[in-house]
Amino acid sequence: MAPVATDSSAQADGRVGKRIENYTGFWQKDLNKEGKADTDNRVENYTDVINGYYDGATGLYEFGWAASFHFSRFYKGEGFYASLARHEHYLSAQMKLKPGMRVLDVGCGVGGPAREIARFSDVNIVGVNNNDFQVGRARKYTKRAGLEKQVSFVVGDFMKLSEQFGENSFDAVYAIEATVHAPSWEGVYSEIKKVLKPGGVFGVYEWCMTDSWDPSNPEHRELAHAIEIGNGIPVMRPLKKAREALLNVGFEIEHEEDLAERPDEVPWYYPLEGDIFKAQTAWDLLTVWRMSRSGRFVTHHGLWFIEKLGFVPKGTWEVGETLKIAGDALVDGGQKKLFTPMYLVICRKPEEEK
Ligand SMILES: C[S@@+](CC[C@H](N)C(=O)[O-])C[C@H]1O[C@@H](n2cnc3c(N)ncnc32)[C@H](O)[C@@H]1O
Repeated sequence: MAPVATDSSAQADGRVGKRIENYTGFWQKDLNKEGKADTDNRVENYTDVINGYYDGATGLYEFGWAASFHFSRFYKGEGFYASLARHEHYLSAQMKLKPGMRVLDVGCGVGGPAREIARFSDVNIVGVNNNDFQVGRARKYTKRAGLEKQVSFVVGDFMKLSEQFGENSFDAVYAIEATVHAPSWEGVYSEIKKVLKPGGVFGVYEWCMTDSWDPSNPEHRELAHAIEIGNGIPVMRPLKKAREALLNVGFEIEHEEDLAERPDEVPWYYPLEGDIFKAQTAWDLLTVWRMSRSGRFVTHHGLWFIEKLGFVPKGTWEVGETLKIAGDALVDGGQKKLFTPMYLVICRKPEEEK
């Protein structure tokens, strides 16, 4: 591993040092607004906020989690990777994806779900992502998997999909835990609807505050803020707003369910709890350990050290610190049922616009 440049210039791999460094500073300024969150500023600057976060966090996600940057449900005894794949299969089955369909993956990360869904459903997938670094990694892993004819990736903003792809160009679109980063749900959902062919299906796992979340309760507000800062999210919104936005832009909802409400014995957030006794397989001990007190201690000091040596861009350590805030807030939100990362909606673009 060669040391990376730590100045503010863009790096060959697509990361931008200045963006990563600015991420924590951005939130510090945000917090200084005398207790009033400056969500307008975050929404206006969503590209920089999110890219700063993912430039810093991508390597940490891949190290601590997997190439699929999302949560999943668990059967008792189910391995971590099997559960991630099952969550992806479930979405494609609910969407009834058929071989040969042209499918768009909105906010595709490093392409873990796209590769899995392409194999599972025999569809052709284009992944779009506004983070150059992740797109580079997605292409590399896809080539390694021999799937480059079936799965491709482009850099692009999901708020401008119709400009990039043209209207009526996909049979199906899905988004896994990505559209929460949008400055507005109406904005991103209406772009998704435009690029879908009439009669096309859109499936989404959305991150939301649940209907039990009360924005007038300071503790609930604090929880939402910790999720925002820890995950590069402009503003956390309640589930009913996602439903409203889908309907407002003209989708017909065929199925909706908060999968976190299923009575699972092993909750979706268990890998973040850091309790190695809860690991479902011996192989998963390492994943769970990384989130434990000792695992965090090692990562905290190890990351600081490799940043000082110049092996990761400056600011990565600080982004790593915000990931800990995220982990704790997500577990808290999950346990209290105030937050869900898996509000599943399957909806359709009408054959004829009314
Ligand atoms: C939590 S990750 C999920 C990634 C992927 N869906 C997965 O499950 O592995 C959110 C993704 O949304 C992407 N994203 C955020 N804002 C975006 C935007 N405006 N346009 C395109 N992609 C965006 C991020 O770069 C990141 O890849």
